[in-house]
Amino acid sequence: MLTTRRTFLKALSATAAAMFLPFGRRADAHLGMPAGVSSPPVIPFKDPLKLPVTLKGRRRGSTTYYNLEMKQATAQFHADMQPTQILGYNGLMPAPIIRASKNRKVIVRQVNNLPMSGGMGSHSSLPAVHLHGAHVAPEDDGHPDDGIPHGQYRDYIYPNKQRGCLLWFHDHAHTKTGDNVYQGLAGLYLLRDPLEAALRLPSGKCEVPLVIQDRLFRNNWSFDYAANENNREVGMLGDIYLVNGVAFPYFQVEARKYRFRILNGSNSRLYGLALSDGSELIQIGTDGGLLQRPNRVAGIDIWPSERLDIVIDFSRYAVGQSVMLRNSYEIDEMAYIMRFDVVKKVRDSSKVPEFLAPFEEIPESQSVMTRVFNLNRTTIDNELVWTINGQAYQSNNPPLASPKLNTIEKWRFVNPTNHPHPIHLHLVQFQVVNINGAPVDPAKYGWKDTLIVMPGGEITILMHFIGYTGRYVFHCHNLEHEDYAMMGEFEVVP
Ligand code: C2O
Ligand code: CU
Ligand code: CU
Repeated sequence: MLTTRRTFLKALSATAAAMFLPFGRRADAHLGMPAGVSSPPVIPFKDPLKLPVTLKGRRRGSTTYYNLEMKQATAQFHADMQPTQILGYNGLMPAPIIRASKNRKVIVRQVNNLPMSGGMGSHSSLPAVHLHGAHVAPEDDGHPDDGIPHGQYRDYIYPNKQRGCLLWFHDHAHTKTGDNVYQGLAGLYLLRDPLEAALRLPSGKCEVPLVIQDRLFRNNWSFDYAANENNREVGMLGDIYLVNGVAFPYFQVEARKYRFRILNGSNSRLYGLALSDGSELIQIGTDGGLLQRPNRVAGIDIWPSERLDIVIDFSRYAVGQSVMLRNSYEIDEMAYIMRFDVVKKVRDSSKVPEFLAPFEEIPESQSVMTRVFNLNRTTIDNELVWTINGQAYQSNNPPLASPKLNTIEKWRFVNPTNHPHPIHLHLVQFQVVNINGAPVDPAKYGWKDTLIVMPGGEITILMHFIGYTGRYVFHCHNLEHEDYAMMGEFEVVP
């Protein structure tokens, strides 16, 4: 336990660590959660991991068509739990996975059959579906002003002309995103580049998507989402981990390499992923797809909405052995996310090549402009509001930036607050130039759409505005920070 805490403190700066501490907590409380709040206990590793179902599409010409219906449903996350009321795409949590191929267009018809009251509709914000990480036209981006009225549908067009990567779609209703995603409105979209097959990475049943989320439950097993002061400040945290909608699952693996496509689909929780025996994880990809070279690490952080592509080699274990996937920032019953049970010896012909994919650096010298964004907080009517350059998001705000189409810009985000802000830009995948004043090797980070700005820290990123003009948003991906207004708009102009 002490080691865990020490690792935690070491991993964050003194100011960063302090952010979790000011709240009065019971002795065994979890970092950042207020006192006296907890879910009923559950027995971990009782249920097998489930995989998201694959959504079936209809191929016509050069396009594949999909239908999803947003609706209220129930889901059971654990053998000993009662069913929980959720909001899901096709009534599922997580949503069915959409499997797309590079250069093949996808059109997703999204029908809003959500109830008018309860989780949705009590507020004027309508659901808008955003494909996170996608390079799409503004009208297909799920802008918060572009919600789908009750009983109606919208067709979202995804050209898929970007690098292969794991994207995810989720609700983007302004002031309701946190609640709606928490209730279940999120799912994976795997964009495959057919050229990747030549790498012979683990595939088929050995390529496994993992959506990791934390949830807080009431005694009747309903979600305990509360838009209270603590959550406005820290973000909504839960004490039960769901992986693909299963609480603390186990997963039976063969003694071979597996590739895990991981999304942190939590509203605000940071995970320090590691194996319980400290064995290496091989990171091969990030938000925007494969890295240039694999990165072998003992542990790796994943902030909300970040994606990781990781290979674990279970051939180092004997049949009958188990190893846990840890969250190294937590202790006690929250230290472990899931368990891998090695059940069978097999021959493994998959590989992790030392060169994965070319990485073309955006030339920093061609940047036409450096913009600075100050991430801060203020109080309006006695309530905490998060701001970007002093502005709290409202749909009629003027854009905070108007980059010109086909130009390269550098954006610097400065965080004087005592909370971390995972900053996300729509439309672009960016490259990392500088973190906390130190230049970094952009190839190490790869293509990103979300990057953490630590308390007292700053980042500088580089992006090329190509393909589309129009209005897009950028925001903190701590969903409660986003809902309480740490969001701005940029407009790409001709
Ligand atoms: Cu994943 Cu604007 O968000
Ligand atoms: Cu996004
Ligand atoms: Cu934030």
